[in-house]
Amino acid sequence: MKIAILYDSRYGNTEQLAEFLGEKAKDGGHEVQLFRTKKTKPANLLAFQPVAILVGGPTHFGQPARTLRKYIEKLGKLRQASTMQKAAVFNCYTGDDVSITIQNQISTALPKIEILEKTLPIRTGDGTGENWNKVMLQNNWKEEASSFTLAFLSFLS
Ligand SMILES: Cc1cc2nc3c(=O)[nH]c(=O)nc-3n(C[C@H](O)[C@H](O)[C@H](O)COP(=O)(O)O)c2cc1C
Repeated sequence: MKIAILYDSRYGNTEQLAEFLGEKAKDGGHEVQLFRTKKTKPANLLAFQPVAILVGGPTHFGQPARTLRKYIEKLGKLRQASTMQKAAVFNCYTGDDVSITIQNQISTALPKIEILEKTLPIRTGDGTGENWNKVMLQNNWKEEASSFTLAFLSFLS
């Protein structure tokens, strides 16, 4: 099955997570392509004709990154979006998990998509209000990302 992984990332944490999810989905026998918001256009993602989409980004100022929201809105405005049937959400944050807001943005833009209730919020940094450009994924992120991928893949079947 074709799976698109749409993500935004400024300092690389969400990108690392997106790449890991992509490898796991490939291990599960799926055809995967990654789309970074600032490097690809919504039309390119739609041309891939994914059946499912994983969507993730960092929290910026208490909200999902603006570029991600804009990208999701554009997907909704392009009619070809109908190849996508299922979605799931991941989020990197230091204090504010905004996974549910991303889910809501997807269901507003793409109302026909079925969204996995389970999300993958991964905290970065040590919670002390450190420099945002230096934070890293918390230690157990691979375990959480692996179990999330399993839930997502069984949601697809
Ligand atoms: C401009 C900016 C604003 C941020 N605002 C928040 C915030 O309001 N709440 C939060 O939990 N994390 C916030 N963060 C932290 C990021 O969500 C976190 O560092 C995330 O891991 C970054 O992902 P990235 O490496 O993929 O860019 C902010 C980071 C930046 C750069």
